[in-house]
Amino acid sequence: MMSSSLVVAPGGPVSGRIRVPGDKSVSHRSIMLGAIADGLTRISGFLEGADALSTMNAFRAMGVRIDGPEQGRVEVRGVGLRGLRAPAEALDCGNSGASMRLLAGLLAGQGFEATLIGDDSLSRRPMRRVADPLERMGARIETRDGCPPLRILPSPGLVGIDYALPVASAQVKSAVLLAGLYAAGQTRVTEPAPTRDHTERMLQAFGVPVGREGASVTVTGGARLTATAIDVPADISSAAFFLVAASIAPGSDLWLEHVGVNPTRTGVLDVLRLMGADIEVVDARLAGGEPVADLHVRGAELRGIDVPAGLVPLAIDEFPALFVAAACARGRTRVTGAEELRVKESDRIAVMAEGLQRLGVDARPTPDGMVIEGRGDRADAFSAGTVVSHGDHRIAMAFAIAGLRAAGPLRVEDARNVVTSFPGFAPLARAVGIAVEEAGPRPGEPADVERG
Ligand code: S3P
Repeated sequence: MMSSSLVVAPGGPVSGRIRVPGDKSVSHRSIMLGAIADGLTRISGFLEGADALSTMNAFRAMGVRIDGPEQGRVEVRGVGLRGLRAPAEALDCGNSGASMRLLAGLLAGQGFEATLIGDDSLSRRPMRRVADPLERMGARIETRDGCPPLRILPSPGLVGIDYALPVASAQVKSAVLLAGLYAAGQTRVTEPAPTRDHTERMLQAFGVPVGREGASVTVTGGARLTATAIDVPADISSAAFFLVAASIAPGSDLWLEHVGVNPTRTGVLDVLRLMGADIEVVDARLAGGEPVADLHVRGAELRGIDVPAGLVPLAIDEFPALFVAAACARGRTRVTGAEELRVKESDRIAVMAEGLQRLGVDARPTPDGMVIEGRGDRADAFSAGTVVSHGDHRIAMAFAIAGLRAAGPLRVEDARNVVTSFPGFAPLARAVGIAVEEAGPRPGEPADVERG
């Protein structure tokens, strides 16, 4: 179990060769598509984090036999498109928005009722964005004022729609496409900006024809999925903490192996390079339909930039780490067009600004981003102190990395949710030279129980 706090001592360099855990988005989808396929799907590199395990448990509760995970290996005995069974209880998605939104799409066309619940954070996140298009397809979904729990009633039969996404969201796109597998005729989703396309790629790997034309993706109802083998790449969103760590700690030289570099996910590389980071993409190759590569990163002097709006959806999960990079850069960094950060596991604009300010950084939140005055001219970009992650895994890890450039020990409280996406974060960070320790709760902090 992850401790409540992380305590980091300044210093570096960050060096060595590591592989971070499997991609969270790909892990969710491997279970979902494996479950509704015909035959046995073998997965390797699966993320054994709480979020992906929530998805796995949901499918077990719907009668799917799943063996593992054991050292990243999972076997899913698919029950076919129509083989899921009504769950006896509500399906608990824990902290995971991807589990809830993608499941909503997949369950919208079933002949049974299911309820999806989540932890405190997930219970505050917007669900109308999936309920609206699914209802247009004929689904019946009840929310609590637009938030979880979601009650999905047996479907009288879905029909395909042509849907223009109002927000650039891969979860909403995927929910509509998964419902489209159960709908009569064609379902078409058009996105306002490119978002991660793992669902489209994996559907094709399972033998489902997927049409792509410009910003639109099309599936036709009734196509059957055929089991396949899935090699889950290391998660670039987890690698991002180490890309920033090695960039901001002078003298660092770090290799990250087998990282997913799907072009819909590599915004973090582009943003860091614009800031002057020294990152090489080596030996780019394909693994099960997904591009992967080894990343070589060395310490660099970063400079502040205006982050191009087009890169925002391609780096959406990496902003907590990028804000830390910006604080360590020379000059001002401005992020705009990132209002989606306000509805992630926490309000990542408010929570990051609060933490950075506590550490002495001039960080000004705006409705859709942040302006950060970098402190790259100083060895200690952050003062020593304590910040709170508000139960958000990526905030906790971002501030742990900031500790490398602090004037003294930096304590990150409420860090237990790191297990949602990155089990083993602290030992792996120590292995490359980051002096991070897991510590128990302080008096007054909530007890150290795992959520969801
Ligand atoms: C995800 C899509 C993104 C991302 C999330 C995972 C996915 O969310 O932030 O961590 O697996 O499809 P949105 O679709 O809300 O942008």
